[in-house]
Amino acid sequence: MTEPRIMPAHGLKSGVAGSNTAARFVTFEGMDGSGKSTQLSLLAATLKGLGIGVVLTREPGGTPLGETIRGLLLDANSRGMHATTELALMFASRAQLVAEVIEPALMRGDWVLCDRFVDSSEAYQGGGRGLGSDAVLAIHRALLGGRAPDLTILLDHDVAESVSRARVRSIAIEGKESRFEEEGQYFFERVKKAFLLIASREPERVFVTDAKRPVQVIHEEILREISRRFLPDLVLRHDLEEVNQ
Ligand code: TYD
Repeated sequence: MTEPRIMPAHGLKSGVAGSNTAARFVTFEGMDGSGKSTQLSLLAATLKGLGIGVVLTREPGGTPLGETIRGLLLDANSRGMHATTELALMFASRAQLVAEVIEPALMRGDWVLCDRFVDSSEAYQGGGRGLGSDAVLAIHRALLGGRAPDLTILLDHDVAESVSRARVRSIAIEGKESRFEEEGQYFFERVKKAFLLIASREPERVFVTDAKRPVQVIHEEILREISRRFLPDLVLRHDLEEVNQ
């Protein structure tokens, strides 16, 4: 398959295409091993190629304080952690990330691409741990004024396959599974169900993509969605080729 490329249409100069590239906050969501990080990096490279300032970050973590909190959350030795403690720590890391990284980047006019955000808390702590959506959304409103992404890309994958991919990766990189990867099939089924419920509740914000397909196909679909929503003066090279045929 030809590599999809976003490019300026109608004689626009390459690089930043004026007001169309106003700062955007885009989050990537999905289960462990669904391919979020790969897609996030591919999108970042394409946007940077257009001259757009891009900040990449992740949750939990993304700041020095947040990375310390991440260590506590993922460490298999934190097994006794209560679900409410887990939720509080997720939001502690997030509050720091929003204040230290996300808001300043958006104020500068950069795009922010974030690997996970509040939807993960709703899916994992609300759904997986059974705390419910209301508790998560109430904390979100109280601490962050309900700050929502402009777009969320949900990579929808099979439970068993994605989790086994994540476990293999963690063992290769860290030498052990993370505390979340130790959870069983039913936990991840609740997580997946919660993600899909969020997507059906907020179809304008959440774009669901089938993550079982090849990386390049998914990347192309994400580019089309980004282009359609935020960069209307830019078209994919494929589209031009189709028009020219
Ligand atoms: P990570 O190794 O970054 O997994 P992934 O690459 O799949 O994102 O670990 C992050 C883990 O934290 C992941 O299992 C999901 C979990 N998590 C929550 O449970 N709640 C949250 O709010 C967030 C942001 C992550």
